[in-house]
Amino acid sequence: MKAILSQVAGDPGTLVLADVPEPEPGPNDVLVAVKACGINFPDGLLIRDKYQIRPPRPFAPGSEISGIVARVGAAVSRFRPGQHVIGRLGWGGLAERVAVPEDRCIAIDATMPFDQAAAFIFTYGTAHYALVDRGHVAPGETVLVLGASGGVGIAAVQAAKALGARVIAAASSTERLAVALANGAERGVVYPRTLTDKEAARALAAEFKDACGATGADVVLDPVGGPYAEPALRAIARNGRHLVVGFTAGIPAIPLNLPLLKSCSVVGVDWGAFVRGDPAGAAANAAAVLALYGAGKLSPRVSERFTLAEAPAAIARLESRAVTGKLVVMMD
Ligand SMILES: NC(=O)c1ccc[n+]([C@@H]2O[C@H](COP(=O)([O-])OP(=O)(O)OC[C@H]3O[C@@H](n4cnc5c(N)ncnc54)[C@H](OP(=O)(O)O)[C@@H]3O)[C@@H](O)[C@H]2O)c1
Repeated sequence: MKAILSQVAGDPGTLVLADVPEPEPGPNDVLVAVKACGINFPDGLLIRDKYQIRPPRPFAPGSEISGIVARVGAAVSRFRPGQHVIGRLGWGGLAERVAVPEDRCIAIDATMPFDQAAAFIFTYGTAHYALVDRGHVAPGETVLVLGASGGVGIAAVQAAKALGARVIAAASSTERLAVALANGAERGVVYPRTLTDKEAARALAAEFKDACGATGADVVLDPVGGPYAEPALRAIARNGRHLVVGFTAGIPAIPLNLPLLKSCSVVGVDWGAFVRGDPAGAAANAAAVLALYGAGKLSPRVSERFTLAEAPAAIARLESRAVTGKLVVMMD
């Protein structure tokens, strides 16, 4: 079978399309014929050895897939051949077949399109876990979402709206902001593509405050970090929660007097650690977002599709900061 392999650490250009043996499922594994694989920002970090997890090489990147169960291991009880599934992998998804531990497989309705199913659990699982379990968002609260037209960003806009929150979106251009507004944000802020001087950061904090209203943002969902995190924190409400989700713009250093002055919390969000450490919680998280999908409240926005051979270009494209929504590699 074909797979995209990382054989040396480096940028997407180091990835190769290779013929590899089909994986043999262990007793607790489900062998999935992959139909689609979603591309996520951590894929580019993983192949450069810059992610918190370092798989042994060679490995195929690709952290989430959808497909059809081909075979199951002897101890698998919940899946059978022919069933449609999502696999929550970490890596290994950019391959025609993958063996997925049963507890990392999620059964889906056969009516869910494979491209949407492969662009679902990573971002919506993260957004829901962040907003509900870590941020305790209540109906009527104001949620400010940074990077609101990216994968996690759009998912967070939709998920916060589904929770009854008022969503303020922030993105680096009017075109990108328009995507977030079309996905349920009530109002938005365009931030500069680079933010280097203090004056511009102060101006951005004022814009965030103006957009969020008199009391500020009850919750900031921040998958971007970098120089944008502090202006957002400055616009947070008393008892607000700043959800630290990712660092596409770099890892910020926040003055610790700010949480004191704002009486707010800076809350770390690690969905991957959550699903590894709490299988029951992970199953509830998946069931919750799939129910919201079924109710039409969450809807993955797949903006571009690639072939398996084009997967390195897909990872590079996501890093270009030109993508809105999700990129998906289709196997057929
Ligand atoms: N904590 C967790 O459990 C968890 C789970 C999933 C993902 N994540 C993290 O969440 C972040 C977002 O992931 P994603 O898959 O949603 O990525 P994505 O689709 O590429 O979206 C990232 C967004 O970041 C913004 N951005 C700002 N500076 C950027 C830069 N220098 N390069 C690229 N993008 C930049 C972009 O929007 P603008 O141009 O509008 O600013 C872009 O839309 C990543 O850091 C990822 O590792 C964390």
